[in-house]
Amino acid sequence: MGQLNQRHILVAISGGIAAYKGAELVRLLKKQGALVRVVLSRGATEFITPLTMQALSGEPTHTELLDEAAEAGMGHIELARWADLMIIAPATADVIARLAQGRADDLLTTVALATPAPVAVAPAMNQQMWAHAATQENIQMLASRGIQIVGPSAGEQACGDVGLGRLLEPEAIVIALNQRFDNRLLEGRRVVVTAGPTVEAIDPVRYLSNHSSGKMGYALAGACADAGAQVELISGPVHLDPPDRVTLHLVTSAAEMCVRALELADGADLFIGAAAVADYRPESTSADKIKKQAGDTLVITLVENPDIIASVSQLANRPVLIAGFAAETNSVMDHAREKRLRKGLDMIIANDVSDPDTTFGAEQNAVHLITETEERSLPLASKRVIAEQIVLAVADSLERLLRRP
Ligand code: PMT
Repeated sequence: MGQLNQRHILVAISGGIAAYKGAELVRLLKKQGALVRVVLSRGATEFITPLTMQALSGEPTHTELLDEAAEAGMGHIELARWADLMIIAPATADVIARLAQGRADDLLTTVALATPAPVAVAPAMNQQMWAHAATQENIQMLASRGIQIVGPSAGEQACGDVGLGRLLEPEAIVIALNQRFDNRLLEGRRVVVTAGPTVEAIDPVRYLSNHSSGKMGYALAGACADAGAQVELISGPVHLDPPDRVTLHLVTSAAEMCVRALELADGADLFIGAAAVADYRPESTSADKIKKQAGDTLVITLVENPDIIASVSQLANRPVLIAGFAAETNSVMDHAREKRLRKGLDMIIANDVSDPDTTFGAEQNAVHLITETEERSLPLASKRVIAEQIVLAVADSLERLLRRP
């Protein structure tokens, strides 16, 4: 499977004769293992039906901005946050102009403005319209904002003209999207990621743990692998499949995670501590199930676990860059800044775990990246998109640290 496997791809189709090729694009993306949702502009519904797109994507087709049923299901803002990537194909000259102006007067442009995910545009129009200065200025404007322009290609057009303006063939669009996720920013780097909870046994039946699902750490491991890194993922017990091209190390307790982390982090380029490591464990673990006596209380003495990421930071051959997370419920930034210094980290990624949208187990996250010289916020998005943005940030910092004399 390529880079699109299990990715959330939002396909937006605007109203041009090439709209029918949107159906083939959805079919090919599904074949790549992507999860696809479709937005049809009002004009597109003149060329292709919502039912056809629903049959191909396996999901309800979104057409109207203020559609009660859709809002009850997945509203336009949720749709924008669901996406790991939005591709507008075909994109008419009108849609390109409205995107350039930052309009939000229909579902397609509203979602394009609201999504934190990367956006790609596949233009399709008459060759004269494509060549027009206004269209070219709009395209330059979109490209300057980081929007990927995919195509157009040259050839015979439905109107009988021949020239540049044909929608790129769906197969070529899929190749371009695959490459989008294949950024090689961490090519040849050795990366260690911790993820998930740790489990601290009380007796063979009972234990202490937390609600970490591992999704954030697994998304980071996947994004680092997509960027070309050799990734060692050290994971507590979770219910997730490991990302492709990642070496998985399953552990249970904080002590086991610590041993594995110190072993793998020695001489690594990058260490990301996303695991929710239990700060304490029972002073002793009973070999047999502790029997319950009527009316008594069970007192369990807890002792401190090793601080894994702080220990990694103390390694003689410490990783070049160490990024930890700060799971906070109040004074998020102050606590995170203090934690970065106390643990000897290059970056700390602060997240508010009291927010139902971003707490343990959530599909999305919103974080603040804090280093010695910079603080930057990444707004609410899927953990995959957040992970890719964190990889962009750490790759940049890593290169600067490696260049340091
Ligand atoms: O797994 P998900 O359901 O996707 O949820 C994601 C998350 C909320 C777990 C994740 O985004 C997150 O915040 N992970 C860090 C949770 C945590 O333990 O935060 P903390 O502030 O207690 O720890 C700070 C840092 O020290 C973390 O990098 C942690 O991995 C590390 N740590 C903490 C304790 C310890 N004994 N050893 C450590 O290495």
